[in-house]
Amino acid sequence: MKGLILSGGHGTRLRPLTYSQQKQLIPVGNKPVLFYAIEDIIEAGIRDIGIIVGPNKEQVIEMVRSKKWDANIEFIHQPEPKGLAHAIIVAENYLKNEPFVMYLGDNILKEGIVEHVKSFLNSDAEASILLTEVSNPEEFGIAQLNEKNEIVRLIEKPKKPPSNFAVIGIYMFRPAIFKAVKEIKPSWRNQLEIVDAIQWLIDNGYKVKSAFVRGWWKDTGKPEDIIHANRLVLDEIKKTENNGILKETKINGRVIIEKNTIIENSLIKGPAIIGKNCKIANSYIGPYTSIGNNCEIIDAEIEDSVVMEGTEIKGIKRIVESLIGKGAKIVRNESLPKGHKLVIGDNSQVRI
Ligand code: DAU
Repeated sequence: MKGLILSGGHGTRLRPLTYSQQKQLIPVGNKPVLFYAIEDIIEAGIRDIGIIVGPNKEQVIEMVRSKKWDANIEFIHQPEPKGLAHAIIVAENYLKNEPFVMYLGDNILKEGIVEHVKSFLNSDAEASILLTEVSNPEEFGIAQLNEKNEIVRLIEKPKKPPSNFAVIGIYMFRPAIFKAVKEIKPSWRNQLEIVDAIQWLIDNGYKVKSAFVRGWWKDTGKPEDIIHANRLVLDEIKKTENNGILKETKINGRVIIEKNTIIENSLIKGPAIIGKNCKIANSYIGPYTSIGNNCEIIDAEIEDSVVMEGTEIKGIKRIVESLIGKGAKIVRNESLPKGHKLVIGDNSQVRI
């Protein structure tokens, strides 16, 4: 079996971060979202992984190659993000008529995919999808099931959802899908939708199975999803691991502190993670916060937030539920004229 991870697309819902950064590289718990997908696929015993790349492909390739993986990873260029089913057409030569698991590079699934892959390979199904109940079904692909729990219909982001069973971004296929993706027509949003291809399989008599996932699942498409995913991931920290240097500092709860980080006269409340080479002084880092490498946080209070690498926060009380990009500077304005002095990228959101 092969793996196919989708790491293309424009990530418009995550602007301005995605002007400079491919969305699947945004960190959750100080790890790029994309790495969760790679790890899950490797954990399921798959050793050949193709990664679909599009805009910012160099960034994705560099980030993936910055780590050693127990798998052969190839990159497949999708010139334009024309839909999830289109990505399968682009990857057909790589997949070479083998069964494969397709994993959207912005999805995180707590339980991983080991059991789902096993159960698919032991079945005679041509495709298998995973479902979970959501409270906002208009935002996902939705499955309508009959009383025997068989799939009757799949619809992409329906205005009037027939159920609240979302199709999550992890799919398993056998080769009939290569025919399906070529038979379907682009949707109203001009994309070749994967749910339409799976619907084509059902309509043409192929067996498609479904299973509900047990633990949490998160699609990190929007800023609030990243913050929520970060909470879920940090909640999984089992115990405190301190590799930094603490002076007059109190740690409450489970906190990971990486090498060469110096924390002085501060309170850190877990679950939280603080990356390498950070300097933190006279500050409060509250629960559900991830601080990337090389950050400086002085005389500040921050909680429930994701702070990416190289950021400086000084004299600011207090930051909550925030997503702060790389190399940002948030400092107190001590000079005249008084007031908020902002240099903010296009489509940023600031609530002061
Ligand atoms: O997350 C689950 C949902 O994912 C499903 O419920 C929907 O049925 C499915 O269509 C998809 O919806 P999204 O609107 O969230 O898809 P998005 O455009 O965000 O693309 C998902 C991932 O695939 C994302 O990491 C970008 C990547 N992608 C997307 C497209 C359209 C590609 O690599 N190539 C593409 O052409």
